[in-house]
Amino acid sequence: MKKTEETIMRHITKDITNEGVTEYIASFYRPLTEDLANLRREADKTAIPIILPETENFLSTLLDIIRPKRVLEIGTSVGYSSMFFAQKVLDTGISRPSIFTIEKDEETYDLALRNISDLGYDKYIHCLLGDGEEVINSLLDDGIEKFDLAFIDAAKSHYMRFLEATLKVMRPGGIILVDDTLFQGRPALDPEEPPRKHRTNVKALREFNEAVAFDPRFSTSLLAVGNGLTIIKIL
Ligand SMILES: C[S@@+](CC[C@H](N)C(=O)[O-])C[C@H]1O[C@@H](n2cnc3c(N)ncnc32)[C@H](O)[C@@H]1O
Repeated sequence: MKKTEETIMRHITKDITNEGVTEYIASFYRPLTEDLANLRREADKTAIPIILPETENFLSTLLDIIRPKRVLEIGTSVGYSSMFFAQKVLDTGISRPSIFTIEKDEETYDLALRNISDLGYDKYIHCLLGDGEEVINSLLDDGIEKFDLAFIDAAKSHYMRFLEATLKVMRPGGIILVDDTLFQGRPALDPEEPPRKHRTNVKALREFNEAVAFDPRFSTSLLAVGNGLTIIKIL
């Protein structure tokens, strides 16, 4: 698939589909709580990436459908999505959610701990410091109870190893969600050799997207929601 520079530039925008459509979809977004709305505003102000409103909307309905009790997340950042998961699980009528979230960066981890405690979610969320794969392996060694749902939202070039690690701690039939799999539309629209700045991520995402789409262990869909969201049902 050969593309001219012009075609590529025309397609690559912040929105992976169409700006107007994305805005329209995002207009239906309502925050779960005022605290979460404030944290989203703060993250936006400081340009800290958290799940997009339209991704959150989709996750919200999905959680109403699956009603998970135990959620594993790789990529805590400031704790926004882990608190969204905790609140949403509570809203589905499950009284004691258990959210495990892993963050590699120590400063970010400390900030997440503070946010989670300030907003009163610390009884539901276990924040773990370290690399996603390594922490999962240590949870496995400790005989952790399996998870119903996982959300992978960390370094894009490591998605494959995060996925393989996550699979070891999922219950049969569990669901794994992977965010940013369309990364500004680049895996689809960049030339075969992507611009140097994005080369590693785009190449890794292309390999990842193809591998999970055709893996007989899964039923997989890559959705043009937010920055691309992959939903993997373990068969
Ligand atoms: C996009 S942010 C996560 C946003 C968060 N899920 C939310 O929506 O509120 C990605 C985070 O993953 C962390 N991260 C990067 N590599 C990681 C790794 N190998 N293991 C665990 N976390 C990692 C980064 O430090 C960053 O805070």
